[in-house]
Amino acid sequence: MLYNLNYIYPTFAIIIKHRLATLRVKAIRLEHLYALLLHSAEKIQPATLHPHWRHKMYKITNLPFAAQKLTFAPMLILDGKIASRAVIDTLKTEVEQIKLTGKRTPHLAAILIGNNGASETYVASKVKHCDEIGFGSTLIRLADNISEAELIATITELNNNDAIDGILVQLPLPKHISEQNIIMAINPAKDVDGFHPVSVGKLVQGLPTFIPATPYGIMLMLEHFNITTKGKHAVVIGRSNIVGRPMSILLSSNQPYGNCTVTVCHSHTPNLNEICLQGDIIVAALGRAEFVKANMVKEGAVVIDVGITRVEDPTAKKGYRIKGDVAYNEVAPRTSAITPVPGGVGLMTIAGLMKNTLQAYKAIGK
Ligand code: GUN
Repeated sequence: MLYNLNYIYPTFAIIIKHRLATLRVKAIRLEHLYALLLHSAEKIQPATLHPHWRHKMYKITNLPFAAQKLTFAPMLILDGKIASRAVIDTLKTEVEQIKLTGKRTPHLAAILIGNNGASETYVASKVKHCDEIGFGSTLIRLADNISEAELIATITELNNNDAIDGILVQLPLPKHISEQNIIMAINPAKDVDGFHPVSVGKLVQGLPTFIPATPYGIMLMLEHFNITTKGKHAVVIGRSNIVGRPMSILLSSNQPYGNCTVTVCHSHTPNLNEICLQGDIIVAALGRAEFVKANMVKEGAVVIDVGITRVEDPTAKKGYRIKGDVAYNEVAPRTSAITPVPGGVGLMTIAGLMKNTLQAYKAIGK
């Protein structure tokens, strides 16, 4: 016999494993599409349909049932369209109730400085969601050569305007303006971004406050899909004031969907791959496209991708594609749950902001 079976069998096993992984990625994509279609048809929560649909998908791949059971670990796509829709619909109902009482509705003021394409898109989405929910909104557009003093004067006017409940200044700001001074100028009672030191201090101490919209949205997503966090090791990559830092506080807090042991990694973490591999939950919020690779993720981990980097692509309609911080196609098959990009955390951020706006309105008590 010319062939050594000890060599051939493992080789076949590797080829088959690779083939199955590819099929699984395809199945996951179809499953995602199916969930979106179901949702747009206002059907049942797709999360509850997953086992059924997964079974159908496995049938399509024509694998014997025993192999399907062995090969496919249950994996959930944490679909931001679905989870954010649930939050937005609840807010809509609350606004309808407010309207019935004859009171004014919550009102958000957004300040947009300059012409940053990404900021324009985010602010437009925030305003659009206000309209949909029934909140009032005011968009104040300012030239990027506005002085810090002028910007602070605008914020002060909004602070003193009783018809405004929430104020946000879209970041980043032009270089000549101090982000810290601007954040400090916002009345903490209207700080729906949760960036003011008063809000951050309360968050750290576990007191009721405005939670920054992205981490808040992630917590709402964990809640929507009932992801177990208690006792888990969460690895947060990134320590920004907007996402990484507050996320680490929330996940470590003694509250539902908290109680994790949290490791915060950043640009000076030497053994980042090693630490990521220990994570039961990974939150990637470093802003580098497809940074998290399959060899950094433990089998069965929950992966939350906060990245939204525009990567040039002449074949795309807009000339760019949005990439997450996670290399989705290779990472997804290893996970028990993962957020897609786009369609994941981004939508939850809006949901978090909208909830904060209602909270500000209620606290002001108009
Ligand atoms: N820029 C990026 N994320 C945010 C956010 O959550 N709020 C504001 N104001 N600016 C941002």
